[in-house]
Amino acid sequence: MAKTAKHHRCIDCGTTTLRWAGRCPSCGEWNTMVEEAELAPLVRAVDELDLTAMPVALSSIDLSAARPVPTGVSEFDRVLAGGLVPGSVTLLGGEPGIGKSTLLLQVLLSRASRGHRVLLVSAEESAHQVRLRAERLGPLPSELLILSGTDIGAAVAAVTSSRPDLVVVDSIQAVAVGAAAPGERRAGGVPGSATQVRECADQLVAMAKAEEVATVLVGHVTKDGSLAGPRSLEHMVDTVLSFEGDRHHALRLLQAVKHRFGPTGELGLFEMGDQGLNRVEDPGALLLGDRLTGVPGGVVLPALQGRRTLAVELQALVTSAEQAQPRRTAVGLDAGRLVMALAVLKVHVGLAVLGMDVFTSVAGGIRVAEPAADLAVALAVASATTGVPLPPDLAAVGEVGLSGEIRQVTELPRRLEECARLGLERVVVPASSPDGPDGIELVRAATVAEAVSRSGCGPGPNG
Ligand code: TYD
Ligand code: MG
Repeated sequence: MAKTAKHHRCIDCGTTTLRWAGRCPSCGEWNTMVEEAELAPLVRAVDELDLTAMPVALSSIDLSAARPVPTGVSEFDRVLAGGLVPGSVTLLGGEPGIGKSTLLLQVLLSRASRGHRVLLVSAEESAHQVRLRAERLGPLPSELLILSGTDIGAAVAAVTSSRPDLVVVDSIQAVAVGAAAPGERRAGGVPGSATQVRECADQLVAMAKAEEVATVLVGHVTKDGSLAGPRSLEHMVDTVLSFEGDRHHALRLLQAVKHRFGPTGELGLFEMGDQGLNRVEDPGALLLGDRLTGVPGGVVLPALQGRRTLAVELQALVTSAEQAQPRRTAVGLDAGRLVMALAVLKVHVGLAVLGMDVFTSVAGGIRVAEPAADLAVALAVASATTGVPLPPDLAAVGEVGLSGEIRQVTELPRRLEECARLGLERVVVPASSPDGPDGIELVRAATVAEAVSRSGCGPGPNG
């Protein structure tokens, strides 16, 4: 490629400029302008395109290579619809400290203990630290190899020479393409920069395909998802997993955001313990275990997380405002939907929280974004406002409309099954609901006012 030293190109949108800029003038992305000469390794692939490639019949494609191989960590395999596919690249995203390294170390240990060679490229922790952690998790099989370092070239070389069938790179933000020649700046800046993250991922994707090795990349994501890197890799990888939970609670949720080899609805549940992550057999018992009954402001919501039903406790606290501007806090809930529920309570039920602080939260560090939580939010707030506790065996589910009507939700039968299994006896549901399972009494309500009065926590439809 001819060297056009003065040109800079945005690696995101391709805009070229004569002068370097910290921010692309066209797409507005930061740190994406790279001198054309430095882009050479990125565009070289185009020159190497094989123009003699011929199309083949789709039916002649061999599927045996694309079969998932179980890792032995059951919840991990369940989310991946069976396991990791050889040659595939998986991105595991999550907040720092949530347990990504622990989960993947367990996956590596599990595979290695079955006699498969696996490799951990540890760019954040020393081999010493990893060994200490691994010893807490179980016996160390000899097939588990570790390469501690940040140079992506060394990692690829290690895979080529040791030929593992699973590689974990922890993390993609900590590795970098080694400095080119002495005195030259690293192409694309320091580890963790958008260019480095993409260039490293690019090399690892190529390596995974060439060596047919299942590759898992760890990516740290902040709460707003704004950290340079992982999000921008989603289109390059086959699978994107997100590992969530509240660092202060034991429960961790694993979900596939994107999966080229199967459906994405499955939810994996883990509990962080002294010896790593354990599979959660009965999330209902864990989530509702510490529930205090007979206190105003609490109600059970059978929520959907992926394809699983999780019964969670929804709590509200209403108290006189500390400041001129009253607070509206929604932990694990959609703040916009809380404000809407408050407006519906005020206009259609006659329950105003004027001059009051309103706190709502889902216990256990679970996040519930679905509209089906509306009714439970409204009932919890109504109960907290009037000071009348809801019955302990009561659950509620329904979407609330702006006219105060209660709308049907998806998967109601499965939600009701879960309530029955947990021993709840009554569920407030939309008026149009079909009968529930044995042992569940349905309290059908057409409006929020009706739901509030029939669950016994409010002033009733006529104030
Ligand atoms: P880690 O896997 O390092 O998180 P990440 O890679 O996502 O940044 O683990 C985070 C926390 O888990 C850490 O604070 C310690 C805790 N932990 C346990 O509670 N039990 C254990 O057995 C292990 C290995 C870690
Ligand atoms: Mg880590």
